[in-house]
Amino acid sequence: MNDMEALRTRHSVREYLDKPIEPEILRQLQAIVEGVAKESGLDIQLLQDNPEAFDLVARFGLIRGCRTLIAFVAHKKDQDEAIGYWGQHIVLEAQKMGLNTCWVALFSRKKCHAVCPPGNEARVVVAVGYGATQGKPRKTKQASDIVTIEPGVDKPAWFDAAVEAALLAPTAMNRQDFHLELSPTGDLHVDVPGTGLTNIDKGIVRRNIEVAKDAHQ
Ligand SMILES: Cc1cc2nc3c(=O)[nH]c(=O)nc-3n(C[C@H](O)[C@H](O)[C@H](O)COP(=O)(O)O)c2cc1C
Repeated sequence: MNDMEALRTRHSVREYLDKPIEPEILRQLQAIVEGVAKESGLDIQLLQDNPEAFDLVARFGLIRGCRTLIAFVAHKKDQDEAIGYWGQHIVLEAQKMGLNTCWVALFSRKKCHAVCPPGNEARVVVAVGYGATQGKPRKTKQASDIVTIEPGVDKPAWFDAAVEAALLAPTAMNRQDFHLELSPTGDLHVDVPGTGLTNIDKGIVRRNIEVAKDAHQ
């Protein structure tokens, strides 16, 4: 599976099989997490046996049967965009390895085993494991809802694939609260309102756009 296939087949999965991740796959995932942590400078922790983190009383957004998670530890919202950008790389690598995932903001920070320096906490986690299903496509905005092209600017060859990739990006509550603007220099800017989890979404969208652009080279 290549990156674009991973991006197109990935859907949030909220119910997991009681099947441990194979040791070799876990080793590869750990290596990816460590590599990304080193390259990005982020504090990212693979927690292999922490089902309690999803033990919550809530009416929606619950994750069932998942024991393994990747925690992004940060000071408040300071690193949100980087967390989205680098976390989505890990999510797509996991998809390529036959694993399923879900970004999760609604989890128990008390029961999460992430080791947090004073003042920091697990900002968001990614649930990872073998899904009971592969998830399914969800409602999405259309390109015309989210794109602005400045007058006189020609669409680059990668443009349509990049917009598709942006629309396939997971966003908190499926809000898709972002806007893409193609500038005269041919750069595609991602704008978000800058509240809540939107900067994590922004990082995720930026990663998906980059994957689509790279696939066009
Ligand atoms: C930052 C962030 C936080 C999220 N938190 C939760 C969550 O707490 N619970 C949940 O079930 N889904 C959560 N999601 C998953 C979104 O609901 C999901 O990505 C969105 O509905 C789009 O669906 P898709 O991932 O299948 O494309 C989160 C996604 C993001 C990006």
